[in-house]
Amino acid sequence: MILKDKVAVIYGAGGAIGGVVARALASEGAKVFLTGRNLASVDVAAKNIVAAGGSAEAAQVDALDEQAVAEHLQAVIDKAGRVDISFNAVGIPSAGILGVPLVELDVDQFALPITTFAASYFLTARLAARHMIPNASGVIMTVTTAHSRTGTPLIGGYGPAQAAKEALTRDLSAELAPHGIRVVGLRPQGIPETDTLKYGYELRAEATGMTWEQFQEMLASRTHPRRLMTLEETADVAAFMASDKASGMTGTTVNLTMGSMDD
Ligand SMILES: NC(=O)c1ccc[n+]([C@@H]2O[C@H](COP(=O)([O-])OP(=O)(O)OC[C@H]3O[C@@H](n4cnc5c(N)ncnc54)[C@H](OP(=O)(O)O)[C@@H]3O)[C@@H](O)[C@H]2O)c1
Repeated sequence: MILKDKVAVIYGAGGAIGGVVARALASEGAKVFLTGRNLASVDVAAKNIVAAGGSAEAAQVDALDEQAVAEHLQAVIDKAGRVDISFNAVGIPSAGILGVPLVELDVDQFALPITTFAASYFLTARLAARHMIPNASGVIMTVTTAHSRTGTPLIGGYGPAQAAKEALTRDLSAELAPHGIRVVGLRPQGIPETDTLKYGYELRAEATGMTWEQFQEMLASRTHPRRLMTLEETADVAAFMASDKASGMTGTTVNLTMGSMDD
């Protein structure tokens, strides 16, 4: 087990990626503390991990609320002694963000993903780092999309938001790596099992004229194996990146686009 007794906090753990990452970290031996805006979904995810023999607890934490994040982290440290891994998998609904041409988008709609994604990542990373620095150890992680690096129509401020998170990964690493803290991101291609990709497709379906199947085929055709990544594959890389096996990696976002994007 590559994460035996590590203590991990996952934000947005009621979601598709947060939930599967929590499961993967737990299956490698980590004690996982799942948090989300709604307790019900994180509670289900935590119970499933415990039923499978893992160590998991759920809590309601708004990852944009500084006091709530700080209090939860303190509760984790009071209970588990430290925090080793902070993973931000927060995602917001795409309605009003995707599907609107930039020339028709108002500034609040444009700014919403930027302020939400980047601010939440900043907040959870900063608060975790304050606890990790005295231990000279820790891993701060997040997940972005290929929109950080490619020009894509009808995605509003979503691409700039993802690019901001990748820049923050580099900048956090530049400041925190000297303190023994690694900062790494994952950049998977769209994952068809998730509602995020389905809603993202639906919001642009009329403009693209593609069926859901054609949309997936179009994305898959850009990858070398001609298929899209699974949630499980994404989570397996997350577990590796969170472990000491990846001690040589920091300040980077791992390209999980299976060849559809060059570094
Ligand atoms: N799905 C993909 O294909 C894909 C690919 C690459 C990257 N990503 C990125 O990965 C991240 C997660 O994607 P996903 O598909 O797992 O999304 P998801 O299933 O919608 O999950 C996102 C989770 O974040 C929670 N959340 C939203 N705002 C929050 C807040 N302020 N505090 C705490 N939790 C909050 C949501 O809770 P509520 O339901 O209560 O709002 C939800 O449980 C996103 O940043 C997305 O851009 C996704």
